[in-house]
Amino acid sequence: MTDFFGGAALNSSIKDTAILLAAFGTTVPGADGVYAQIESRARCLFPGVDIFWAYTSKVVREKLAAQGLVFNSPVQALGLMAESGFSRVALQSLLIIPGLEHHDLIRTRAALEGLPKGIQRISLGAPLLSTTRDLQRFTQAMLENVPPKREPGEAVIFMGHGSLHPANALYAALQYHFWILDQNIYVGAVEGTPGLEDIIPLLQKNRIRKALLLPLMVVAGDHALKDMAGRQTESWASVLQAMGIETKVTMKGLGAYENVREIWLDHLRDAVASLKDVH
Ligand code: CO
Repeated sequence: MTDFFGGAALNSSIKDTAILLAAFGTTVPGADGVYAQIESRARCLFPGVDIFWAYTSKVVREKLAAQGLVFNSPVQALGLMAESGFSRVALQSLLIIPGLEHHDLIRTRAALEGLPKGIQRISLGAPLLSTTRDLQRFTQAMLENVPPKREPGEAVIFMGHGSLHPANALYAALQYHFWILDQNIYVGAVEGTPGLEDIIPLLQKNRIRKALLLPLMVVAGDHALKDMAGRQTESWASVLQAMGIETKVTMKGLGAYENVREIWLDHLRDAVASLKDVH
């Protein structure tokens, strides 16, 4: 078991330290089971440390509130944690890329750290894909998670979200790292580049006959259900089928894979470790 703060400071530090897990959120019933898996692993790694949740999406929070399910924004959660007397918080970004939502967390952290009678220190854990090392770890992990025996005409296609933020370029970087390992793995984004229209010519060139579609998102939520696997003609599954590609879908978010969860948890470990530098 990892030593949390090391040595004698352990017990006194745990009491004023907490973890805040910040996810985009989902309105799809059951999809949040993935969040529970992430939380239970965090509990295991940091026994005795309080763990809180925040959803970054206002739209998701409002939809859930209409069903009587109340979730805090990161700002609200940090405010409540300050009121509860926590003075050090490891804020872990459960996002995929450091896009707009993650940059909001950066600004939230900067604004709320060190307020009078507030939280002295807030550290921010990186999202899933930030560094070259993350891209290498993630591509290797997913290669272990997709079916191993694939024919030359069988492709694996990931549908990411995409972002207006320059971090959208990480999808192209991820594609590069997949291609080092496997030429028939493709990465696209539903609201960014590369899009399905960029992948299609490659599928044709490589004479792809079969494809497995997977969400490159934390949970298999709304986009996975509709834009990836939906029955309407514009969904990725329908477009590929119409091209004569036999298409299967996997309704499993990235957070459902243990070897992928470990990347986020290592980022959380770094965020927790960086809290101890402050006195
Ligand atoms: Co969207």
